[in-house]
Amino acid sequence: MPTTETPGAPPAEERVFRPAPSTVIEANVKPAELVEAYRLAAADHPGYWEQAALELEWHRKWDAVLDDSRPPVYRWFPGARTNIVHNALDRHVHIWTKNKLALIWEGEAGDCRKFTYFELYREVNRLAGALRALGVGRGDRVCLYMPPIPETVVAMLATAKIGAVHVFVFAGYAAKFLRERVNEAGAKVLVTADGFYRGGKLINLKAVVDEGLADARPDVAETVVVVRRTGGDIDMQEPRDLYYHDLLRQESPEAATEIMEAGEPLFWLPTSGTTGKPKSVVHSHGGYMVGAHHTFRTVFDIKPTDIHFCTADPGWITGHTYGVYGPLLTGATVILYEGHPLYPQADRLPAIIERYGATIFYATPTLIRMLMRYGPQYPKNRDISTLRLLGSVGEPLGPDAWMWLYKHIGRSNCPVLDTWWQTETGMAMLSPMPISLLKPGSVGKALPGVAADVVDEDGRPVPPGQSGFLVLGKPWPGMLTGLAGDDAAYAAYWEKIPGVYFAGDLARRDEDGYFWIQGRADDVLNIAGHRIGTAEVEAALCSHRFVADAAVIGLPDKIKGEVAKAFVVPSPQWQEAYADADAFASDLRAHVRRELGPIVIVRAVALRESLPRTHSGKILRRVLREEEEAGGKLF
Ligand code: PRX
Repeated sequence: MPTTETPGAPPAEERVFRPAPSTVIEANVKPAELVEAYRLAAADHPGYWEQAALELEWHRKWDAVLDDSRPPVYRWFPGARTNIVHNALDRHVHIWTKNKLALIWEGEAGDCRKFTYFELYREVNRLAGALRALGVGRGDRVCLYMPPIPETVVAMLATAKIGAVHVFVFAGYAAKFLRERVNEAGAKVLVTADGFYRGGKLINLKAVVDEGLADARPDVAETVVVVRRTGGDIDMQEPRDLYYHDLLRQESPEAATEIMEAGEPLFWLPTSGTTGKPKSVVHSHGGYMVGAHHTFRTVFDIKPTDIHFCTADPGWITGHTYGVYGPLLTGATVILYEGHPLYPQADRLPAIIERYGATIFYATPTLIRMLMRYGPQYPKNRDISTLRLLGSVGEPLGPDAWMWLYKHIGRSNCPVLDTWWQTETGMAMLSPMPISLLKPGSVGKALPGVAADVVDEDGRPVPPGQSGFLVLGKPWPGMLTGLAGDDAAYAAYWEKIPGVYFAGDLARRDEDGYFWIQGRADDVLNIAGHRIGTAEVEAALCSHRFVADAAVIGLPDKIKGEVAKAFVVPSPQWQEAYADADAFASDLRAHVRRELGPIVIVRAVALRESLPRTHSGKILRRVLREEEEAGGKLF
């Protein structure tokens, strides 16, 4: 447990940037209001969140703001009834936002589709009717394996509207991963697309679905709804596969919204942990809605004229909260882009900002580091002066990338909001506000209503400047309500450091209360902002017929933050099957890609006779990491 300055850490960052006077004057939360927000949250934690809940519409108000009588199970707004889609969509149809743009979508080829709130509402209702006709109802799971296209947003909202639960499987995950998630969810319906475009290539998504469902449980995915995006050649299996457009043709543009208990599930989202099996985080209609709405309105300072460009795929939590629900709950306009960020040229994202006049740009450090390679002139021929706020999420941004983003994308004029949060937290937890003083590389302070601390393994706060475990001391509305089918794993978040939620990260806090994230404390890799458990990669490697044992560690990477290195104990026959170790290694890399998907990048493979293990059989990854740092074999 590190309790001192991490060896080799860069010197403490001392630069501080102040917001422009106009930013302060125009902010939704002005300095005096922020002071008051912190005061209220400290004096009356549930009261603070009750005020946030009152900004939304409810069909029935809560009996209590928070039921914390059975920790670590927390129920926000018990007794209250609503549906997030009522607030995200239905209510806009009765107010001025009705004819405002909700969604601007750009395909990789430059094709563009726009939806007003009214148009989105009607499309969602049609799909909601179609799903109901397929027998989907309250509490049923609907699996979404979708690319970034408008129908993806429609499918999320239509599922939620009828009280069903969306289980998104990011389209970069492989067939096996999809099968496991569909089985686990017991999803009767899967919504997907024929394919999509990325990096100039047509990706045949439906072929992956067919492969994934080939060995799925017989009672799941009885219907597969296929959006025709590319018109590519796909295999439609009768009677299972139905075209989305055929299905919607007969449906009414009106559909009733199911009124949900606040704690009823809205979605499951798979994410990686320290075991070989991903966990499905569960979020609810009531608490998640309050968290997403409040943080988007206050942190992203959303105004009626804003055009928010969230580069995250809708299939990740960032896409869920700040690409779909947060923007729609606040009546904002959001941009969704289908393709590769550097295609067909490096300034594709600035071109999108310029074309639609985006005012907020929310990206990942990996993306920012990719753009940084194009140097100080970037993005010289694009007018991106409409931007007023920049955001980052998913991995440590670091002072260098922060400064580049601030200067070259923000013209030294836009606050950089480095937001720290997780799939589990559902909403941003640590972040500067637009009016905050900014320190490059820091994620700012805990937001009002968020109790964050840095502690040692006994839960004692460590002094400023020292690193420790980042924990959350009080429940918050956007929090996960559970892990699907695994109460013990849910409870484990509160057990490592008794009584507080341990996020899995190491951090330090400075004298001013600013947090500096140092990375994961557990065996979870962060490859280009994607969370990947070393145990999952090890399990994938061990499923190869010539692998007897495997261990995986992270290696630092200039662009992706981290990549995986595998240590493999081969079974004796491997030499008969491969010309040499390089051929074996490249097959292993391809195998992991097939098993888990292209997001898992195994950079290097080392063959070993054995792996360092504890007496109880646990892999000593620490020993492998030390060996790697020393540049050779130590054991
Ligand atoms: O390690 C932290 C890192 O991403 C993890 C959460 O991953 P995920 O659930 O996939 O959600 C990512 C998007 C919300 C955290 O435990 N992380 C997230 N945001 C930051 C970060 N690391 C440093 N700085 C951040 N701003």
